[in-house]
Amino acid sequence: MSRLVIVSNRVPVPTPGTPPAGGLAVALSGAMKARGGLWFGWSGGKLEPGADEQPEPEITTIDGVTYAVIDLAQRDLDEYYAGFSNRMLWPLFHYRMELTEFTRVTLSGYHRVNRLFAQKLAPLICPDDIIWVHDYHLIPLAAELRAMGLRNRMGFFLHIPFPPPDILTVLPNHADVVRSLAAYDVVGFQTPIDLENFETYVRRERVGRRLPDGRFVAHGRAVTVEAFPVGIETQVFADVAAASGRNALVRRTRESLGDRSLIIGVDRLDYSKGIAQRIQAFETFLLLDPEWRGRCAYLQITPKSREEVPEYAAMEREVAELAGRVNGSFSEVDWTPLRYVNRTVGRNALAGLYRQAAVGLVTPLRDGMNLVAKEYVAAQDPENPGVLLLSRFAGAACELDGALLTNPYDVDGTAGALARALDMSLEERRERWSGMFEKLKTHDVAWWCQSFLAALEQPDEPSQASR
Ligand code: G6P
Repeated sequence: MSRLVIVSNRVPVPTPGTPPAGGLAVALSGAMKARGGLWFGWSGGKLEPGADEQPEPEITTIDGVTYAVIDLAQRDLDEYYAGFSNRMLWPLFHYRMELTEFTRVTLSGYHRVNRLFAQKLAPLICPDDIIWVHDYHLIPLAAELRAMGLRNRMGFFLHIPFPPPDILTVLPNHADVVRSLAAYDVVGFQTPIDLENFETYVRRERVGRRLPDGRFVAHGRAVTVEAFPVGIETQVFADVAAASGRNALVRRTRESLGDRSLIIGVDRLDYSKGIAQRIQAFETFLLLDPEWRGRCAYLQITPKSREEVPEYAAMEREVAELAGRVNGSFSEVDWTPLRYVNRTVGRNALAGLYRQAAVGLVTPLRDGMNLVAKEYVAAQDPENPGVLLLSRFAGAACELDGALLTNPYDVDGTAGALARALDMSLEERRERWSGMFEKLKTHDVAWWCQSFLAALEQPDEPSQASR
């Protein structure tokens, strides 16, 4: 079995004394342990100002997996991470053209850092390794590695949506982005919708065609392009949730609620998550359904994110103001409707809070998949499951057909759906939940990882392109 090399912008190097990493990191490290592996990327740290040479990667081996990480210079972080990745690709791929900022400077920083990754990674690669690159920060990496002469099998997985061609072509260098994707052997998207958007782009822009075997030929290479919806560690998460009664934070939260119904939302503070619209929907719900005042509490856990990007700072103010307004208007001396928490909550407590919640509110304006939706379902008590209220624009909506689907732009509609969720009969809740849980058990993160790797390991058959 070939060694697996994973490359991602952030690398979850395990550190003693910190809680275990999330399901995705666990699954990927698991796959690496099984076959030997290397995980390469940014350390999360900054180079000292004035350092004129990029040091070699710092290499550690923990629990059978080797981690190789590099620090980045402030300028690289500004241009590659905060700039092109998070002010151009992130908003555009989430269908938010009005939030994008394209500059030649950040684009060139993006390519410079991808080249740097390739230069530092290439000496660590053996000829038989398979390389799996993750997410939008690193689209050009395979092209850079191939330009250096590497012939390994390389795969790319996009964790965020792939937008329709009318949106993608807003990116001045959209043709290069798709050309870069063609340097991989396998390109994975989250959902069939992303795949369809890619197919339409390829057809309309005349960059390639589909082969009878399903692969795409573009820019002279045959590439397998498929949807591989990412999953969670379903059974592990369900077990953690079932045992969460022992968790002190979960217990205290339960006591603080009394017999009120808990509504929960958990998201990074990101404009794609629809947090402002969701709080507005909660406000409308309290207005239209006054009988729920004092009988429910909405807990929104929202750790801050990407604070160096101006659009994030702006939305931080907007959401905080909105949360204050709702609490100002509806709070009673002995009841606060909204608990807005800008803090990270550990996985065990989170699992327990999901299990306590009668409704999981997952209403992004656009999301590649959304694993909170899946974790909420996995955490439920089979005897008395809560209701997942899910945006139709989350990738997870393609799979979780037992959820109550909502359009987050329709604030009144979401408010109505929230009332329906809180009033849903036990029988309907059980029926909706059990189908979703079964699906999540078979389509878990290990299944996702294996499916992608199986596609990546398929021997290269001669394509029509190379005949
Ligand atoms: C999304 C992206 C990931 C990213 C994460 C956190 O889930 O798909 O690639 O790591 O957000 O964002 P950050 O910018 O803090 O790495």
